[in-house]
Formats: sequence, C-alpha cells, structure tokens
Amino acid sequence: MSTRFTPVDIDAKIPNNVGLADDRRLQRALENWQPRFLQWWRDLGPVAFKDNPVYLRTAISVGREGWANFDHVSMPDYRWGVFLSEPEPDRTITFGDHMGEPVWQAVPGEYRADLRRLLVVQGDTEPASVEQQRHLCLTAPSLYDMRNLFQVNVEEGRHLWAMVYLLHRYFGRDGRDEADEMLERHSGDLDNPRILGAFNERTPDWLSFYMFTYFTDRDGKYQLASLRESGFDPLSRTCDFMLKEEAHHMFVGATGIGRVVERTVELMKQHDTDDISPFGGIDIDTIQKYINFHYSVSLDLFGAETSTNAANYFAAGLKGRFKEESRHDDHRLHDLTRGVPTVAEGRITEREAPLLSALNETLREDYSDDCLPGLTRWNRTLADVGRELRLPHIGFNRAVGAFRDHHVSPDGRLVSDAEWAANVGGWLPTDDDRAHVESLMVGITELGKMAGWVAPPTAGIHRQPVDYEYVRL
Ligand SMILES: [Fe+2]
Ligand SMILES: [Fe+2]
Repeated sequence: MSTRFTPVDIDAKIPNNVGLADDRRLQRALENWQPRFLQWWRDLGPVAFKDNPVYLRTAISVGREGWANFDHVSMPDYRWGVFLSEPEPDRTITFGDHMGEPVWQAVPGEYRADLRRLLVVQGDTEPASVEQQRHLCLTAPSLYDMRNLFQVNVEEGRHLWAMVYLLHRYFGRDGRDEADEMLERHSGDLDNPRILGAFNERTPDWLSFYMFTYFTDRDGKYQLASLRESGFDPLSRTCDFMLKEEAHHMFVGATGIGRVVERTVELMKQHDTDDISPFGGIDIDTIQKYINFHYSVSLDLFGAETSTNAANYFAAGLKGRFKEESRHDDHRLHDLTRGVPTVAEGRITEREAPLLSALNETLREDYSDDCLPGLTRWNRTLADVGRELRLPHIGFNRAVGAFRDHHVSPDGRLVSDAEWAANVGGWLPTDDDRAHVESLMVGITELGKMAGWVAPPTAGIHRQPVDYEYVRL
C-alpha cells in the first residue's frame, strides 16, 4: 500500500485527507456513525449556547503553514473530520524488536488486539472530557474564555473522529462496535462509565477547567506523542496532527492559571492580605490545593511504574517513548535497567527495574518535567508577594502504582493515617474551598467584561482584540 499524500477534501460530508471518497464501504460506515456522533454532541456536549455562532478554529489542511481557518460557526455545523499528517517517505520503525523495518500501513495480525485497545483507551478520553465540561459554558468568566472552552470541546470531538476512523478503517466489525461503544459509555455513568478514572469526575468550575487543560491535557500530549512514534503509520500520522490541536488546550490551561494568579496577587496587594476570599478572589493556598489534586490524579493516568503491557507495546513497535529518536540508547532496551520509586521498610526509596517494563515511569518523568515551566512563570508573578506554587511529590495522593497504599505529604514524607487525616484539608481542596470557588463562578457574557476572580488575557485569539465578539449571543 502506498503512503502517497492525499489532499484535503474539505467539502466532503466528512472532511478528510484519507481518500474517503475512494472507499465507499468505509465512507458509508462513517456516514452512518456521523448522525450518532451529532446526536451525542446534542445530548452530552455543551448544555447551552448550542447554536450560537462561535469564533472557532477549524482544521482545513495539514501543512506546516495555515492549517486552520478561523470563523464564526455554530457548533453543530463544525467540520469534524479526519486529518492525517503528511506521510514521511520511507519511514522505518525506530524502536523495539522491529526496529529498522518499514512502518506498517496495515495492522499486523499479531498486534491487532493490542492496537485496538490502545485506540479505544485513547479515543474514550476525548468525548469523556467534553461530557465532563458540558456545564462550564454557563459560568464562563468572559466570552473569550467561553470560546476557548468550545474550541477545546470541538477539537476533543475531532480527536474522537481520529480514533473512530482508525477503528472503522482497520478493525472491521470489531472496530465499528468499539466506535459505537465510545458513544455509549458516558463520563460518570455508574453502569457504563468512561474507561479511565479521572475521566469520570465532573469538571465543576473554571479553576478546575484550567487545571484540567494544564495537567490532564498534558497527559494527553505525552500519550499522543508516544503513539506518534508508532510503527503503525496511520496511527502515527493521526497523533501527529492531533498534537497540533492539543497545544492550544494546554495554552488555555497555562494562561488560565496564570491569569488567576495575576488577579490573586492584584487583590492581595490592594487589600494587603493573603486572605482575599472576602474580596472575590481565590487565595494562593486554594490554588496550590487545586494543583496538588489535578497533578496527582493526572500522574495516575500514566499507570503503574512498571507494566508488562507497556513493555510489550514498546517491543512490538506500537508505542514508543517521548521523542524516541532523540534518545541515546539502542532503542530496544532489552538489557537495560533504571531506578523506579518504591516504598520499602517504611521509607521512600528506589528499586532497579528493567527499562522495558519501566516505560510508564519514563513517560511520567518526562511529563513531570514538562509541568514545571508553567509554575516557574506563575511564580514570577508571585514573587511580588513573596509566595510560591510547587508541584507536590509524585507520591502524594496517588491511587495507582507504588504509592497507592501509602500516605505521602506534598513535600514527600511518608505520613501516618492520623497525620494525613489531620493535614489533608491543607493539602487538597476541601468542600469549603470548592464551595468558595463555585460561588465565584458567574457567567459573564458582556463584550469585553471579565469575572472578578481572574485577570484578562494579554492578547485575544488569532490577532482579534480581547473584547472581540467571540461568541455571538
Ligand atoms: Fe484530545
Ligand atoms: Fe485536549
């Protein structure tokens, strides 16, 4: 099969650059799924502003320059489609036991089940986050923010399309069933929940939304980046393009938290106190607790420190490491080891584990490093008031892996049940903290106005002014 590049057919019923028009069966199957997707969007997408024109970015091409178009679109008319990055000529597998062999344009039979699982787990998170965030449009701090929320939502919808295309195209009947089930599982549904725990929690307020896009979308970035390395070329190319869209989601998080911090500092100076709650702000302790919560639940998404699945995926060439080619080792990793955290004899220490089985920990570590630059930036603002935000220790509040059965303080000490119980209210958001944040959430829909708990952004979207009519009411 060739990897010849197909131009984007943007006017097709399903916009695509995968030559859908040449594969009638597949086209019909996806056109069958399309109304079900739209019905899901109506039922479980944003609860309001369902038909208002929103200033959205739509993918129209995959080239390096000008891949997107910005215009007012009513969300049900968004052009959800299937876009793969341009193929890399003569691409070969860069890691694992098939290293050096040409990449696959079809699914190797022996890896069918594993690949299907990877697609389903990734795909399931995409609509899940839309469901988690569906109420937030009612309390957006500005039209600018509401637009960003909707942008994130429609693109997560498109990411579902990306995975559903691969399932339909390469997995036949099983794939179609899996695609249907993506719309049947729902976030928080007790009978039929989403696959990963963190995707069954509601995103209750905008501070949580900014945290989610900063910490949890960043987990998405690392998962996609390691799937981009895949020897299964269509998966690699689809993830490569998804990462382009994903960058904006993390931008929303990083600037969102930055704007909260900025407003907090402003109120602290104005009222000469750390306790700015009475003045309609979110104090630094609360922001820290939200960071502690979202960082720790996002770490759980990487799975246990050591994992046979991760080793198998790597050896098979299905899922690589972050930036696989920039690593200076043999990319097969059979005889190498690394330290992974563990708790032994009452203290936090390390044990040696085969590098191959410790790949989750390697990815987790890359992720943690990538979480730091945001904190450095926010701390520059906080330096004015002599305060600082930190990432908690990786053992803090974990439900998965080595720390699962232990209590670890944010500064990395093993603590007793009693010490945990006595302090947890200072480490994780309490009901009162959440109630306070929720009390600040009032939808602001006037042009150019901003809620009082967050500073305006420094620039608008796509060179538009901050007070632009991002959502037409
Ligand atoms: Fe996504
Ligand atoms: Fe995302």
